[in-house]
Amino acid sequence: MTKRHFVSYSNPSSEIAEQFRTIRTNIQFSSIDIQHKTLIITSPSSNEGKTTSAINLAISISQQGERVLLIDANLRKPKLHISFNLKESYGLTDVLMGRLPLEEAVFQTQIGKLEVLTSGIIPPNPTEIIGSKAMSYFLKDIKEEYDTVIFDCPPVLETTDTKLLAGQCDGVIMVLKSGKTDREKAVEANRLLHLVRAKVLGVILNEKE
Ligand SMILES: Nc1ncnc2c1ncn2[C@@H]1O[C@H](COP(=O)(O)OP(=O)(O)O)[C@@H](O)[C@H]1O
Ligand SMILES: [Mg+2]
Repeated sequence: MTKRHFVSYSNPSSEIAEQFRTIRTNIQFSSIDIQHKTLIITSPSSNEGKTTSAINLAISISQQGERVLLIDANLRKPKLHISFNLKESYGLTDVLMGRLPLEEAVFQTQIGKLEVLTSGIIPPNPTEIIGSKAMSYFLKDIKEEYDTVIFDCPPVLETTDTKLLAGQCDGVIMVLKSGKTDREKAVEANRLLHLVRAKVLGVILNEKE
């Protein structure tokens, strides 16, 4: 496990953990009437802190006693299984292709009611699977089963996958890396998300130490 990924768990009194609690509160209060159950974590490009942010946000929400499912929806560069020390042998793609029921595909963690669904076997056609009818049904099912579902997604500017998913989820959190993400790329990513009617709830400004 990478320590940084789990700082909200290992060091709940740290400033980073506090910041993720603030983000959690902001999401939960960004609308009184609309529940934000399915959340997308993405960024314009790679290596900007999506996976780190997704894990810490999931931990932070689960620390409130919620049942949280963290899903690796980055079918091109899946990373969650590495952070959680899990086998990559089955996961999201197996559930979507009807090979495994969800309850058998998820991993329980030691952290509250946080469960993890890894990517599963990487298919040759990730976009087709992400945009499938099976995915739409899956989104309905998980909303009934979990309080919050967080998708660790690929970069917006590199694939269509995130846009396909974002249009069907309740909200998007954009991660930008301070001093690294180009302003133009951030603007373009935001524009593409608005085109698919995604609701960008906010931005995490991630800064490498
Ligand atoms: N705030 C930060 N400070 C230092 N290192 C970070 C920070 N956020 C992310 N990293 C590191 O940068 C790398 C990329 O982060 P990651 O969350 O995997 O990005 P992405 O999912 O966007 O590709 C990882 O090695 C991670 O540990
Ligand atoms: Mg990642």
